Amino acid sequence: LRKYRPYPQVPLQDRRWPDQMITRAPIWCSVDLRDGNQALIQPMNVEEKLEMFQLLVQIGFKEIEVGFPSASQIEYDFLRLLIEGNHIPTGVVPQVLTQAREHLIKRSFASIQGAREAIMHLYNSTSILQRDVVFKKDKKEIIELGVTGAKLIREQAERAETIIRYEYSPESFTGTELDFSLEICEAVMDVWEPSPEKPMIINLPATVEMSTPNIYADQIEWFCRHVKNRDCVLISVHAHNDRGEAVAATELALMAGADRVEGTLFGNGERTGNVDIVTLALNMFSQGVDPELDFSRINKVINVYERCTKMKVHPRHPYAGELVYTAFSGSHQDAINKGMTALELTQSGLWEVPYLPIDPQDVGRTYESIIRINSQSGKGGIAYIMEHEFGFKLPNDMRPGFGRVIQEVSDACSDELSPEMIFQTFEKEYLFNV
Ligand code: KIV
Ligand code: ZN
Repeated sequence: LRKYRPYPQVPLQDRRWPDQMITRAPIWCSVDLRDGNQALIQPMNVEEKLEMFQLLVQIGFKEIEVGFPSASQIEYDFLRLLIEGNHIPTGVVPQVLTQAREHLIKRSFASIQGAREAIMHLYNSTSILQRDVVFKKDKKEIIELGVTGAKLIREQAERAETIIRYEYSPESFTGTELDFSLEICEAVMDVWEPSPEKPMIINLPATVEMSTPNIYADQIEWFCRHVKNRDCVLISVHAHNDRGEAVAATELALMAGADRVEGTLFGNGERTGNVDIVTLALNMFSQGVDPELDFSRINKVINVYERCTKMKVHPRHPYAGELVYTAFSGSHQDAINKGMTALELTQSGLWEVPYLPIDPQDVGRTYESIIRINSQSGKGGIAYIMEHEFGFKLPNDMRPGFGRVIQEVSDACSDELSPEMIFQTFEKEYLFNV
């Protein structure tokens, strides 16, 4: 982690925003198996859910929302498989989502029977729009719904052998008047009576992302400042990506006081997805903050994700896409070539290569694909391939000529040239003609 230099700082007196940075990992909760799964064209079957669960455990998630067991038989069966098959390692807590209705709560408790510990996640929608249009309930009735659900959960929890942790989400928080969201959360707190030793989770979702990230962060900060008994609650954020800003919104929300993040791998989830935890974690990593999640074998993560979700990771996805450590254009290749050479010479341990914000090896990628050649490429890139693939250092005065030859060949075939094709062209051009 010490290999990355912090970004240049604006002098304190010139900063527009308070001097805040993310300095430690939040509590992470993966919602891949619930929010991610419910948005798939083909939801995961039990075997796929198990494979995904095991991947999430390997990455280091300690809290995993495994499903909505009262809403689907597969989700119920999956919980039974996890528990009866002893698949939940010590230290990993499954989380289940439920609505505030008695039979759903009872079924949720049945699904977790035999687990050592579980998080029971209650939600009801609180926004003005949902109150008026979907539920046709006033504020008092919405509070009643949440409080009734909380009471039913508490009754069940007191009878259960499983250690129950409580989570409440005022769904559509970002469309809810702030004082009302506080009122309903505090009403639920009154039922669950959290303490500093046994805090409850208050999850404040941007169910639909409706604003710029600073607005969400302001809402989180306001809530953190006003909620009673702040030391008895963990404030969790759950951003969706409707405006494409979920990563930024979550980062600012963490700086504004949130303790916990719910999100998914590669941002799978409803509509434009949930916040992408891979990007969040590796953003921290590249600033020298240990994210406490292990993405050092990103190709394995991609493979399991693609197999289970039947979704593709975009080739330009931050840190993970197939093309994100690759340069085709001449000027970028030249700079990378010089950066890599300087790295070898200085051996400073700091990763400072132009255009490559992190060392591909930190996510288990090799240097092989850093420079690839097509008609956009230049002599520096070609020299890099000749040296790093074939151990052949092209003399400086040969580079422009060979660069032109390669450009002609790739122009003619309008395609990328493999290292072997470059070497064959070199042999044909120079060696066989000697
Ligand atoms: O996006 C959302 O509001 C949710 C809740 C159920 C937490 O997924
Ligand atoms: Zn969600």
